[in-house]
Amino acid sequence: MHEFYHGSLIFLAGLALLTFISGFWITNPYGRHMTPGQRFTLPALPAWLIFESPQVWAFTITFWWLADDPSAVQLALYALWQSHYIYRAIIYPLRTHKRGKRFPVSGVVFGFLFNALNGFVNAYAVVHAPHLIQTWFADPRFLIGLAVAVVGWWINFQADSILIGLRDDGSDGYKIPQGGLFRWVSSANYSGEIMLWCGWALMSWTAAGLIFALFTIAKLGPRALSHHRWYRATFADYPAQRKALIPGLL
Ligand SMILES: NC(=O)c1ccc[n+]([C@@H]2O[C@H](COP(=O)([O-])OP(=O)(O)OC[C@H]3O[C@@H](n4cnc5c(N)ncnc54)[C@H](OP(=O)(O)O)[C@@H]3O)[C@@H](O)[C@H]2O)c1
Repeated sequence: MHEFYHGSLIFLAGLALLTFISGFWITNPYGRHMTPGQRFTLPALPAWLIFESPQVWAFTITFWWLADDPSAVQLALYALWQSHYIYRAIIYPLRTHKRGKRFPVSGVVFGFLFNALNGFVNAYAVVHAPHLIQTWFADPRFLIGLAVAVVGWWINFQADSILIGLRDDGSDGYKIPQGGLFRWVSSANYSGEIMLWCGWALMSWTAAGLIFALFTIAKLGPRALSHHRWYRATFADYPAQRKALIPGLL
């Protein structure tokens, strides 16, 4: 199993690099970037439930299968991972207005396999990390990582809520999001998500956590630039000072 874990880490690191480079040419065709008449799609709600769910069960199965007597730190990391992914895999798709929306089958297959592998490597890393004992709670890496993750999670949750609110009137088109970090960036949800996983990498201090943070940047960074270009091309009155992902910078 150790060889499979190491092989998976190398594979995921390579995938992050490939995702980053290809993201500047190809924008994943879901949401506003779907092409009209796109074939091989599923209804968006079950698609999200299917492809995000492995982050819950792959992490859970791996963790409880391998951990004989988990430390309080390992249990805390388990609880944080699960609380985010129960939100992302179940609560979030049910909150969004996805009726009538479609999602590509290729994205469901890729997302399902990636999330299963990512849930496995992160749980495996947490269970086997020798530093994740009681004293880690007082380590600056844990404390700073936790603070970054909590702030990132809040920014992401608030941004998700603002976007969902834009369609509470029953419309299904796009509007200019206002409030929260959207005052400064076009993809506040992605800014928060990237912070969340950078915080996780720091607080867990594992190679798997670092590779997932890099993958999140690789996937959402170029996509945020595409969203930003799309907003500027679509809305003549789009706020000129707003950046794509990092306030005042990018
Ligand atoms: N960790 C990772 O690697 C990773 C990867 C992907 C996503 N995520 C997270 O998953 C969540 C969803 O991601 P996403 O790529 O679907 O985000 P998104 O493109 O910003 O869309 C989010 C939701 O809001 C709607 N929406 C977006 N902009 C809107 C606007 N201007 N007016 C009205 N509605 C709007 C979208 O509808 P449409 O579907 O109709 O566009 C969709 O339902 C985010 O919180 C993201 O951070 C994480």
